[in-house]
Amino acid sequence: MERSISFTLNGKPASVTTDDERALLWVLRGDLGLTGTKFGCGAGLCGACTVIVDGQAVRSCSTPIKDVAGKRVLTIEGLERDGRLHPIQEAFLKHHAYQCGYCTPGMILSAYALLLQTPRPTEAQILAAMDDNLCRCGAHVRIVAAIQEAAAPAPGGAR
Ligand code: FES
Ligand code: FES
Repeated sequence: MERSISFTLNGKPASVTTDDERALLWVLRGDLGLTGTKFGCGAGLCGACTVIVDGQAVRSCSTPIKDVAGKRVLTIEGLERDGRLHPIQEAFLKHHAYQCGYCTPGMILSAYALLLQTPRPTEAQILAAMDDNLCRCGAHVRIVAAIQEAAAPAPGGAR
């Protein structure tokens, strides 16, 4: 059913009029021009399309747009602040935690959700949280190192 759906997108009000069963992924990419969210499998299996909805990592390919009405959606485009990358993004850069980069937005947002829930995760917790995000380039070891770096307290305790 076509209807108007409003939500918060990267901290700003957003509204679309569309079939309310359309996947959030296609609304973000096609209607709103936010192509940082990637299409991989389209079946909830690879994590390339991961975004944050009310603090939780969700698969946007498997989320009807009606499910985010009134909620807060964060995409990779909304992670920087005042032109500065988020510490997780900085850590991915530092550790070269990517090759082609296709999985990277989903990886970073899954890591973001993990660190929201568990600011100082063990390696086992990182592996468990990231297990459903696939990287065809095999950057997993560097991805885990980047997440560990982002989770570590900075010298002097400042972040
Ligand atoms: S494209 Fe959504 S999980 Fe693969
Ligand atoms: S960096 Fe290429 S898929 Fe992960």
